[in-house]
Amino acid sequence: MRLLQTLSVDLRRAYSSKPSVPIIAAKHPFKLEVKAGKVYPWCACGHSKKQPLCDGSHRTAAPDLAPLRFTPTEDKTLWLCGCKQTKKAPYCDGTHKQSHVQSFVPESGT
Ligand code: FES
Repeated sequence: MRLLQTLSVDLRRAYSSKPSVPIIAAKHPFKLEVKAGKVYPWCACGHSKKQPLCDGSHRTAAPDLAPLRFTPTEDKTLWLCGCKQTKKAPYCDGTHKQSHVQSFVPESGT
């Protein structure tokens, strides 16, 4: 009987789990001075406390999302997406100006 209960719980978890979706970390892009040849891990999940870069929070908050690592070819200033809704990650494409981002109210504790 106990085995059936355990199996039932496992099946419910398996079928109720949804893929992680990024949360809106900010309603604006982040300006970042980058160096050529250095690897930067852009936070794709929105949970990092070191926006716009990854702090490892995805490992517990959104385990099926991973940072997008990129390596600039020259020293320059970039505007990296903070809303995590861009279609041109890791760069801001202006999506943060849309109403679904600007009207977003974060849950307490996120
Ligand atoms: S901050 Fe995400 S598109 Fe501009």
